[in-house]
Amino acid sequence: MIIGFLGTGVITEAIIRGLYDVAHYEGTILVSRRSEERSQRLSETYPDVRVVDQNQELAEQSDWIVVSVLPEQVSQVLSALVIRPDQKVVSLAAGISLDELRSAAAPTTDVVRVIPMPPIEYGLGPIALCPPDDATQALFSRIGTCVSVSDENQFNLFGAASALMADFYGQVSGVTQWMNKKGLDVPTAARYTTALYHALADLTVRQPPEALQTMSADCQTPGGLNAQFLARRNRLGANQSLTDGLEDILNRLESAADQES
Ligand SMILES: NC(=O)c1ccc[n+]([C@@H]2O[C@H](COP(=O)([O-])OP(=O)(O)OC[C@H]3O[C@@H](n4cnc5c(N)ncnc54)[C@H](OP(=O)(O)O)[C@@H]3O)[C@@H](O)[C@H]2O)c1
Repeated sequence: MIIGFLGTGVITEAIIRGLYDVAHYEGTILVSRRSEERSQRLSETYPDVRVVDQNQELAEQSDWIVVSVLPEQVSQVLSALVIRPDQKVVSLAAGISLDELRSAAAPTTDVVRVIPMPPIEYGLGPIALCPPDDATQALFSRIGTCVSVSDENQFNLFGAASALMADFYGQVSGVTQWMNKKGLDVPTAARYTTALYHALADLTVRQPPEALQTMSADCQTPGGLNAQFLARRNRLGANQSLTDGLEDILNRLESAADQES
């Protein structure tokens, strides 16, 4: 099978590296010449990656077309292509609905939305799919944890949660910088904070889902350090700002879909 990526940006590179380095994928991958430095680097690193000059040429030579341009470019880029009814279109574009994709990708109706995250490069992280699709899941489950839903409104919940990334890295960096300002050298501080966040996150995936609701309470002793810190943060609105922020992103994703229809 040949997979062609329309757009050779950050997430395309992460997927390709994950597929070849982690999953030892053996198929051919085509990438657009766009982002020339990156497409060249990928084709030099992986013998099965080939750079293609024109989008139509890439579409004709691919069994699957992965749409990995920016959301505002999707409609124009896809509509300009002649796509066969037997081709699968996998869109990574945030906020572009199945209806809009199917209309731009006609006559094929085999369209799947996927949200990968950058750690996919290391075979880690969630990969949301809508609608569920066995073949797409078979490919992406080699480099992450696939979660499929049929309802696009539910899929938008994953889109909203994927926006937590910058906040998370800001937190790791914020704690590291705070330690540094207090006199600790950055490598020692970072060694501690990265191991801390890594271990705490790792523990969550080892729990049954219902245990997530009690993990926070279980690690607080009354009057203890964790209880004090959490109470202070919640007084400052941390808990509320988490759900308010998610609601904002969800509203944005839903209103983008409403404007299309
Ligand atoms: N980055 C993430 O963590 C992430 C996660 C999930 C989903 N996504 C989605 O994935 C998509 C790509 O994101 P990204 O972060 O990888 O963006 P990016 O790094 O900006 O990459 C966009 C790519 O599209 C290319 N491009 C632009 N116009 C094109 C055209 N007409 N024909 C062919 N290629 C064209 C760009 O080439 P030039 O550089 O030459 O302009 C670039 O290679 C977005 O829709 C985003 O919503 C991203």
